[in-house]
Amino acid sequence: MQQNIKKAVIPCAGLGTRFLPATKAMAKEMLPIVDIPTLQYQIKEAIDAGLEEIILIISDAKEEIKKHFSRDENFENYLIEKGKQEEANLIKQLSTMAKITYVVQKEQKGLGHAILCCKEVIKDEPFVVILGDDLIINEKGDNVSKQMIDIYREKHCPIIGCQNVKESEVSKYGIMSLKGKMENRIGYLLDMVEKPKLEEAPSHLACLGRYLLTSDIFKILENTKPGKGGEIQLTDAIKSWCKYQDVIVYDFIGRRYDVGDKYGYVEAVIDFALKRDDMKEKVLNHIKEILSKKE
Ligand code: UTP
Repeated sequence: MQQNIKKAVIPCAGLGTRFLPATKAMAKEMLPIVDIPTLQYQIKEAIDAGLEEIILIISDAKEEIKKHFSRDENFENYLIEKGKQEEANLIKQLSTMAKITYVVQKEQKGLGHAILCCKEVIKDEPFVVILGDDLIINEKGDNVSKQMIDIYREKHCPIIGCQNVKESEVSKYGIMSLKGKMENRIGYLLDMVEKPKLEEAPSHLACLGRYLLTSDIFKILENTKPGKGGEIQLTDAIKSWCKYQDVIVYDFIGRRYDVGDKYGYVEAVIDFALKRDDMKEKVLNHIKEILSKKE
């Protein structure tokens, strides 16, 4: 019997070493895209995809995530007294937007280990994994989580979200090879290499920040030895999984920003600011001014 997908797991316990010093005392998932933390976009993606429970994997050190999504009546009342009703509503909404469960990953032993920490909360249900530092926007249709849920309903297989990346980016990702060709954006995983050199990469198809997994993954993760960087890698577990079960590789529709990377973050801030009515003109004028000085 096929089970309904109700849960989203968002891992946010990484050390964020690519974004130091900002991430020394702050989770990279809380870095704001203009004025909204990335993580708020991820939670909205899950809600819009129809998911009912959000499991946030956090580290002991990053309490600000809990604080951001819990109610602060004193601050709300203060804002109301100051005539800032709209702002008060805005911060109240954060505590009611989703049912959030927190799972603490005590030691940062990798993404695979972080997912394993959710075993008791997930039980035997399928679930969506939304990486906390991968922002994916599809303005023209369903968001990436919804796209993957629809495929799961039809195919009943675990799914990895992917896109082709530039040659210069290949060595940053898990790169996949497929059994046969991709059809209608769907292929089946044959093998995967973590962060290969360009000349050793089997393709340019990179594993990018979204997964739809079943609870079978936990048994595999329990038997997965530490891999690259001494971490338990989710990609290593999926690699052994695809030897005996079909794993779908789905070329999702959407623009992806790696906001855990400094350049990816700047791209996201500029693009998002340019989409906002309250900022578009000023930001555009600023860019034009910079460009005119360069000519
Ligand atoms: P990354 O590899 O991008 O996170 O993991 P990182 O280790 O924080 O990154 P850098 O390279 O040091 O900057 C992808 C996602 O998995 C989470 C991260 O928070 C991020 O959202 N993660 C990673 C965990 O939750 N726990 C871990 O042990 C590792």
